[in-house]
Parts: sequence; C-alpha cells; structure tokens
Amino acid sequence: MKTTIKINPTKNKDGIFSQNIIIFHASKSLSGDLFLNEKEREYIQKEFKKDQEIVSLNQLGRFVYIVNVKDEKDKNKAAEDIRLLGDKLQALVKDETTVHVLFTIEDKEKALLLTEGLALANYTFTKHKSNPKPNKLENIYLSNHNEIKKDLAELVNTVDAVYLTRDLINEPFSHLTAKELADSAVQSGKKHGIKVTVFNKKKIESLKMGGLLAVNKGSIDEPTFTIMEWKPKNATNKQPIILVGKGIVYDTGGLSLKPTANSMDLMKTDMGGAGTVIGAMQAIATNKLDKHVIALVPATDNRPSGNAYAPGDVITMHDGTTVEVLNTDAEGRLVLADALSFAKKYNPELVIDLATLTGAAVAAIGHYGIVSMHENAIEEHAQLKKAGAETHERLAEMPFWSDYNELIKSDVADIKNLGGPHAGAITAGKFLAHFADFPWIHLDIAGPSYTKAKYGYRGKGATGMGVRLLYQFIKNRA
Ligand code: BES
Ligand code: ZN
Ligand code: ZN
Repeated sequence: MKTTIKINPTKNKDGIFSQNIIIFHASKSLSGDLFLNEKEREYIQKEFKKDQEIVSLNQLGRFVYIVNVKDEKDKNKAAEDIRLLGDKLQALVKDETTVHVLFTIEDKEKALLLTEGLALANYTFTKHKSNPKPNKLENIYLSNHNEIKKDLAELVNTVDAVYLTRDLINEPFSHLTAKELADSAVQSGKKHGIKVTVFNKKKIESLKMGGLLAVNKGSIDEPTFTIMEWKPKNATNKQPIILVGKGIVYDTGGLSLKPTANSMDLMKTDMGGAGTVIGAMQAIATNKLDKHVIALVPATDNRPSGNAYAPGDVITMHDGTTVEVLNTDAEGRLVLADALSFAKKYNPELVIDLATLTGAAVAAIGHYGIVSMHENAIEEHAQLKKAGAETHERLAEMPFWSDYNELIKSDVADIKNLGGPHAGAITAGKFLAHFADFPWIHLDIAGPSYTKAKYGYRGKGATGMGVRLLYQFIKNRA
C-alpha cells in the first residue's frame, strides 16, 4: 500500500477537517490551539504532567491526538524516539484514509521525523492476498509551511525508496527470479533517470565471473549482473562511490542443503543486499544528490541439481583467483567477490557492499543493527557510522585483524570459501577483502534486513534497513 504525503494548506483553520488530526507539541506552546477549547487544553496539560506521550480527544466525528515530546539531550536518540511515536500514532490512525499533522515552524524537524515514522510504519505487503486488507491510511497532510517543501519532498522520495526495497525483499522467489530482480532495477532506472545495464549469462561468461557462474550452475534460471549508474552533471566526486548488493534470489544452500524449517523458509530474502542498493539508488536519484554513484548487483538463485557446483570443487574467479568451495551454502561471498573485482575498472573512491551474508552476524548482534568491517576506509567508516547513528541504522564494527586470514587458507587453491566454526561473519569479510583493492566497507545485514516480529516503524517482514543509511551517508559526504 502506497502512502502519499502531501502538504495541505492550513489557511482555512475553522473546523475544516473532518479527519483525524495530530497536533505536535514540543513542550513550549501548544500549536493548533484553534482546534481545542479551554477544557480540552486543561485536560491535555494534566495528562502531559503524568508523562503521557500521546493524548487522544474524541471530538465527535474526528479524533485529535496531541503529541508530547520529552526533552532528550542525545540528538540521535531524540530523533528515533519521535520516529517511534510516529509508529504508535500509525496504530491509532490506520483505519482512516487521511490524517493531518499540524505543527508550528519551530517544530519542523520533529514533525518531519514523526511523519517519517508514521509513513514507514504504514507499509503492508498484501499483493498476494485474495482479499487484501491493507491499512486504509493513504494521505498524510502537513501544515503548509513554505520552509518544509524541500524537506518533505526528500522525505517522500526516501520513504518510497524504502517501500521499494521492502517490496523486493518480501517478494517470494516464485515471483522474483534473477531476471525479475534485474527488471525491477531497469524499471526504477527508467522512471528516475538512472542508467541501467543488465548483463546476461553469455556476457557473464565472457567476463569469466566464475563465482556467479558456479553458484548459478544448479539453477534452471540464468544469472544476471546489473549495473545502475547515477552520474549527475554537477557531481562533486571524480571517482565514483560503488554500492554492491548480494542478489541471491533464493538460497537453498545448494548441495550443502539447508535444513528446511526455520532456515530455508525465509531464504527469498537473500537478495536483501541487492534490494537495499536498488532502493538506495532510487533515493539518491529522486533526491538528485550531486554524487556519482554506481550500484552492482550479481544475481542468481542457489540450488542443487545434477549440474550443481559441489563441495570440493575449485573454481576460478573473475580476477583469476582460484577458490576451493568447501560449502556451497557460502555462496554469497562468491557472487560478491566477482562484483568487487569488477568494480576495480571504475577506479572507485569507495566501495560498500551489503549482504545477508552470515548467520554468524545474526548470532553476534541480532536484528538491531548492521555488522560492519572495512579496509583502507577508516574515515569513510566513521562517516558511515555517524550516518547510522543519525538514521538509527547503526553499525557494529567487528575486529578485522590480519590473523583471520589464516582461516581461509586452502591446501589446493588460493583461498577457500569456508572459514571454520568461529568468527563466521569476519572470515566471510576476509574472503571478500581478498578481492577489494580500494577503500572498502562490508555490511552484513543478515540480521536487520528482515524481522519475524514487528520492530517499531520497520514493521514485520522486510525492514528496508540500509536504504536510509546509505542515502544519509552519501548526502552527508562533502
Ligand atoms: N544466506 C545465508 C546467510 C543468512 C543466514 C542470511 C540467516 C539471512 C539469515 C548465507 O548464504 C549462508 O548460508 N551462510 C552460511 C555460511 C556458512 C556455510 C559458512 C551461514 O551463515 O551459516
Ligand atoms: Zn548460503
Ligand atoms: Zn545466502
């Protein structure tokens, strides 16, 4: 269900609204006084004194919700608290088609955060239901302050991009093959002025992308390799920033087959990295950021068949490295490695890859953040961490000592795709680092990309985590 966010004129204030109203109140003056009588105002103050965050009033025919924001010194925590209030409000207004958010201009930033939480919480994925019951809420109107027009357009574009990412990740494999994933990038590109090129199997073979081809061997569908390029005339960076996303549209584990229950059921989400970079590219393009950014998406499903690659195989990667495959379920690193070595030809200033790469990352920090590691990118990683704190898409950095390289040494090939029982997220990262000879950051989003239980405004199912992070990081970059 798409939520549109529109600015509504508030010139005509005398009871024109028959719909729900949210009045934003940031501890000083009570805005939207016109909608409240003396008695109501007294009641509200009394409730606020009791630390109520949201006070509801039934005004016969409509509800008014007055939101009270507590003082919080930590700016990032304050922002997240307000987004979460937006989520709480969504639960209260979701059965009406329209809601008005009223605020005074001093509360501009807070009102936008509230709207962000409200809009992100309103997402539902109902396309495969015969009788879909999406939330009714379609319009969020905001006070018509001229000063917020630009910020609001940016918010709408970013929410749309998060919705796109969630749609892609929630879409089952039966409806999203590697080809269909590439098509979705083409579609977004056409609409928003991003140049998109899709390599087919023949082209991938001619490029000798041995990792992507090995994983694809057991599939009945062809692999794709998608390149999205946003290169505005006013780009301030000479060398591009490259985003790489793992596009495993379904991961059975291959011949190293996963057990079905609880591990294979959700493996339609194994293109989470790809979905996230496609969404981030859309956010970057629709908001016309002045940065040259390229996304690379290697995509295939991973499944067993008579022709599938097998544990013990040695394969030759795009850059010539030989890899001993000891577990066909460690497939993400193989397709990503080819994309990383392909990225060299662009002479990038920074490469960030995103992948639902390891169960070990989930075991380490759960769903609440993104596991990160990096090489030759200390400053860039610090900037990304800052963007993570701002968007509440936080990074947890792993140690990345050279000692871990021991664990991926192979007796028969240059390296192996399996690291052993410990530090699985890190050894996967070390495997990738072998193919990255530029400033590089690896983000393992296996935990936060998808949740079984509702997680605030991120909802239930695909969260879209990573889109706002990447967008904010690139926007912040000088
Ligand atoms: N796609 C999985 C990782 C994953 C796990 C994503 C849980 C989302 C939720 C990945 O391809 C995988 O199977 N990794 C293995 C690697 C192991 C065989 C070295 C893992 O983490 O168990
Ligand atoms: Zn796997
Ligand atoms: Zn996988």
